[in-house]
Amino acid sequence: MSKKILVLGGAGYIGSHTYVELLESGYDPAIVDDFSNAEHKVIERLKALTQRDVRFYEGDCNDAAFMEKVIGTEGDVHAVIHFAAFKAVGESVEKPLKYYENNIGSLLVLLNKMTAHQIPHLVFSSSCTVYGEPDKLPVTESTPRKPAESPYGNTKQICEDIIADCVRSKAAIKAIALRYFNPMGAHPSGLIGELPIGAPNNLVPFVTQVAAGVREKLTVFGNDYPTPDGTCVRDYIHVVDLAKAHVKALEHLSHLNESNHYDIINIGTGEGNSVMEVIKTFEKVSGQPLNYVIGPKRDGDVETVYANADKAKQVIGWTSELTLEDGLRDAWRWQQSLKEEDSQ
Ligand code: WQD
Repeated sequence: MSKKILVLGGAGYIGSHTYVELLESGYDPAIVDDFSNAEHKVIERLKALTQRDVRFYEGDCNDAAFMEKVIGTEGDVHAVIHFAAFKAVGESVEKPLKYYENNIGSLLVLLNKMTAHQIPHLVFSSSCTVYGEPDKLPVTESTPRKPAESPYGNTKQICEDIIADCVRSKAAIKAIALRYFNPMGAHPSGLIGELPIGAPNNLVPFVTQVAAGVREKLTVFGNDYPTPDGTCVRDYIHVVDLAKAHVKALEHLSHLNESNHYDIINIGTGEGNSVMEVIKTFEKVSGQPLNYVIGPKRDGDVETVYANADKAKQVIGWTSELTLEDGLRDAWRWQQSLKEEDSQ
């Protein structure tokens, strides 16, 4: 009997890719999502990609009665992966209460349900944003967290601490917080990918929308940073590699003897690439020049951040396999499939 996994926020970008990798690895995942940041079309796309029906529950993870119903219907849940959070840094500054309520509230509901129903395993979606501007590079898991520069980043720090305190209280939960660096790319099938609502905040979807003619030009937020080419450096991790890291984390948790466990693991490639390198690599994979201009720096941007990914290899046996070029090629294929879909 395959182990049941609840994927909270499973209709979203990283959640949907993780749903696919869970199935590939023999798990029995179910999606829980309110579709506030995902289209219902994702369900059809997942059916096409996996050639199987998709079990999903539409509702708010902050709603305890809804979560009770989901868990009651599922029966014996082996683990939960919690992606269900708002993640737009800028919006979190304008609407902090929306972020604190949703991102922290949904975790509190979940942890209460996990202890009430003896669900032992949790993989939590955290972020490199907790490190702020690191003093030393590459960033390891013992690099001190910096005071969050946005309510979004603060919710990630608070959620990590809530999980740690729960485990310390012997709540019989084994948890791993995965600190993502910069997710990008799409499933090579071109059937699922990133679907930003409105103008993308993140670099890669903005690049692909400019290349597809959806947007006129990319503005590079500053090129006079003290970096090799003056533009910011990030650790771009392919979303399929990132999805596989969740499966590895689950497998690791399942084999632990102790009943209470909490760990933090960076999920990055260990390499840094600048904005200009992303642009040049994209022009290479798309075979077309990208229309961009240099603009002012964006508030809150850190200059350089990339991971030391050794712990992921040592503890959960995971390393990234796909390159920046693979991710940009897959992101471009996905963007073009959207254009075809719209024209149908
Ligand atoms: C990357 C680089 C920009 C857009 C954010 C969140 C982080 C995580 C990943 C959730 C930066 C530059 C961008 C544009 C640009 N999300 N850029 N023009 O800010 O590193 O991280 O997403 O966990 O928490 O903070 O990603 O893609 O926005 O920016 O020049 O139109 O691209 O300045 O240097 P970021 P990003």
